[in-house]
Amino acid sequence: MRIRLQQLLLGLTAAALAVVGATCGSNLTQQDGKDGVAAPANIATGDELYQRYCALCHGKAGEGYAADNANALANQQFLATASDAFLRVAIVRGRVGTPMSAWGKQFGGPLTGPEVEKLIEHIRGWQTVPTRELPSARVAGDAARGQPLYDQHCASCHGPKGEGKLAPSLNNAIFHSTASDHFIRYAIADGRTGTPMPAFEKALGAQGVDDLTAHVRSLRQGGERKPPSRDVPVHKGPLVINPQGKPPKFELRDDFYVPAAQVKAALDAGARLVIADARAESDYLEAHIPGAIPLPFYAVEQYATKLPKDGTWIVAYCACPHAASGRVAHALRERGFKNAVVLDEGVLVWMQRGYPVTKPE
Ligand code: HEC
Ligand code: HEC
Repeated sequence: MRIRLQQLLLGLTAAALAVVGATCGSNLTQQDGKDGVAAPANIATGDELYQRYCALCHGKAGEGYAADNANALANQQFLATASDAFLRVAIVRGRVGTPMSAWGKQFGGPLTGPEVEKLIEHIRGWQTVPTRELPSARVAGDAARGQPLYDQHCASCHGPKGEGKLAPSLNNAIFHSTASDHFIRYAIADGRTGTPMPAFEKALGAQGVDDLTAHVRSLRQGGERKPPSRDVPVHKGPLVINPQGKPPKFELRDDFYVPAAQVKAALDAGARLVIADARAESDYLEAHIPGAIPLPFYAVEQYATKLPKDGTWIVAYCACPHAASGRVAHALRERGFKNAVVLDEGVLVWMQRGYPVTKPE
């Protein structure tokens, strides 16, 4: 078991190195490209990185809503007002407590600095309207006056406390430290054309929008994610939980989804199974189901060969709550792991219920 695990970890490092190597090479190629030299096939372009890591949720062309409430990165009002710095911090640090992982290496994610820049360039490539210079001044609204407006017009989508529901969260600390008052104000006033986000300036007036902006500002919750210490081991225990245990008796929905309560009961009963965390490794480091292995949706190839192909149940989970885990479970079934399934409610609900999670010391 030990040896298998080391292979798992080594595999991970090798993949990381391969990615770093690819990035260094691609800078050269861009220059070469000017002289008409074809780019080698193994170099990751911004589009390749985007398709590999982001399209699952934000859609192939940034149209959004491929999974749950991942916003439209190609939306023109968004692109006109989101600075590169805003995008960079969102990508590198993610949004704790939502399906948006921290993708930067310094937070345990897969992306190097230069790769993040390539992604920003790729996303910027969708912008067809001029960038809007927004005032940096505070918006002088009244949060208390904004509250009833918020409850009436916003809470159904963004959640009563801005925790996000059918729409992105508005309470996240990282969002608040990078979104200016006028970024928020503009989103409320003008909306996001082609997405569920309406424009409110006509209906609620300039004062209403100012008050809402102040109210949104008051929703900030929690702290920012700290980078994990560099030598945190990715995974310590065996791949199979309770290797000597009996297989659990799962009753699946649609032959694919297993309710969280059944997985919790299986753990409590000491049943034999594999639990696979389909999110980016940064999320795994932050908190995971006890005994789970990291099996990010973009690295199934890497890990699949190490799993037992003997009918052992493999429960994949993510936060989305089905997109990443669904991709992993499908990929495993295609490779002959017939008992690969998806944790139905996702890990955020698992945590909300107070089911056990492992956090770094
Ligand atoms: C598993 C689904 C998922 C994946 C994969 C994902 N995102 Fe996200 N992303 C989200 C969700 C959901 C949000 C909204 C988070 C919230 O509620 O605050 C988000 C938010 C963002 C934001 C902030 C947008 C804003 O208006 O505040 C940016 C920028 C972003 N993602 C870029 C990316 C990039 C680039 C990648 C690939 C490296 C990526 N995302 C991968 C789900 C995902
Ligand atoms: C019908 C659902 C819905 C309602 C109602 C709604 N929103 Fe939104 N809102 C969204 C969605 C969806 C997005 C993301 C749009 C995108 O893809 O860019 C969003 C985006 C935003 C953003 C930008 C967030 C970011 O990270 O870029 C702000 C700020 C915001 N909404 C505030 C409000 C406020 C304040 C109200 C009430 C006056 C409100 N919204 C009402 C669905 C809604």
